[in-house]
Amino acid sequence: MNDFRIALLGLGTVGTAVAELLATTRDECLARAERPVVVDRIIVRNLDRPRSIPEDLPGKKVLSSDPMDAVHDPEIDAIVELVGGEDHPRIWIKEALESGKNVITANKAVLAIHGEELFNIALEQKKGLYYEASVAAAVPVLQVIQQGIPAGPVDRLMGILNGTCNYILDSLEETSFEHSVELAQKAGLAEADPTLDVSGMDSAHKLALLARILLGYTVSVEDMRVEGIVGIDPIDLSFGWSHDLRLKLVGVLARNGKGTSMGVMPCFLPADHPLSNIRQEDNAILLEADPFGSLVLQGKGAGGKPTAGSVVADILRAARGDTFATPFVEKRQDILDPGAIPMRHYLRLDVPDRPGVLARVAGALASEEVGIAALEQSENLSTESNIVPVQILTHPVSTIQLDKALERLDEDLKRTTSPVRIRIEE
Ligand code: HSE
Repeated sequence: MNDFRIALLGLGTVGTAVAELLATTRDECLARAERPVVVDRIIVRNLDRPRSIPEDLPGKKVLSSDPMDAVHDPEIDAIVELVGGEDHPRIWIKEALESGKNVITANKAVLAIHGEELFNIALEQKKGLYYEASVAAAVPVLQVIQQGIPAGPVDRLMGILNGTCNYILDSLEETSFEHSVELAQKAGLAEADPTLDVSGMDSAHKLALLARILLGYTVSVEDMRVEGIVGIDPIDLSFGWSHDLRLKLVGVLARNGKGTSMGVMPCFLPADHPLSNIRQEDNAILLEADPFGSLVLQGKGAGGKPTAGSVVADILRAARGDTFATPFVEKRQDILDPGAIPMRHYLRLDVPDRPGVLARVAGALASEEVGIAALEQSENLSTESNIVPVQILTHPVSTIQLDKALERLDEDLKRTTSPVRIRIEE
């Protein structure tokens, strides 16, 4: 059979790992693709930077800096977009599909935001848009939910979808937030600017891609409640441990008679919850449906090699001509806010250690009918600051209502505290 000629767009952590994997597994790739996979073009931003391209990587390996060289090269069968970002990849993917190429990408942002347009072009052009690596890196969750799960709608999905945040939350058991971010950067997980991860937006992009397959329609991340992990402190985690709770950043999709609620939020999970012991940069997706009860898929959710494994699997699917079922994309539909569902919450307020402060906090909470189930405040042993953390467990209340109560704190308290509030999954 003819060679399957690909262009690698991007030679960063993932691109380099893809090149290495294609080189070290060339015999397996040949056997599985039933034709040689060759890398004829490699696009890098800066041609002056030294690159370590494996010598035994099959193909011409022509280096250039303009992605359009690959997108419009009639000899190229597929582009492998590993650059990231939104606007430029949207153009490259669109033009590559329109010029009759398959596209493999690990870019969840471009598909979450421009998926409607890009999947429809893929359908019109009868070309494949393969994106297994964009959700949960090494975990083939898209394949499983498209093709592998027993019939019947998934009623609920709960996922740890960001390896960097999971790694940071693990480190927070030992050290500060800032240092945990640095450790994630040193481990090759977090970007120099970690905002997309720690804001919860990367998880929201992935949840939107999962939802598109599970629900068959496009959900905009702008319509979702998206909360990240900024502001969480080691003392929040230790409070959790002492109450048999583990803190995780989770994406939730749940259907009930009224509709589908979706969002990304930090949550305390009971210690025996299936997602509680997911550690380091692992991701895990818990699916619940009537035919099978529940199942959990778990594996490395970030990093060059784990992502490269899924990218190469997609390259081989494309080379064999296997379709990657393009989701049937309908127009956007409304979703419900999971923050409207009453649940117990953990609340931390850093307040001045002065008479009457607790009464003012309790008054604000009571004004919105937020009931206090438990409250802890340690003695302030510092000689430098009179600010102390007050940690509260509420009775079930919606996040929306709790936020209204926090708005009722008086101006003096609002100046000293940025409340941290975390839902507790039962
Ligand atoms: N930054 C992502 C994560 C990996 O940490 O999960 C790429 O999606």
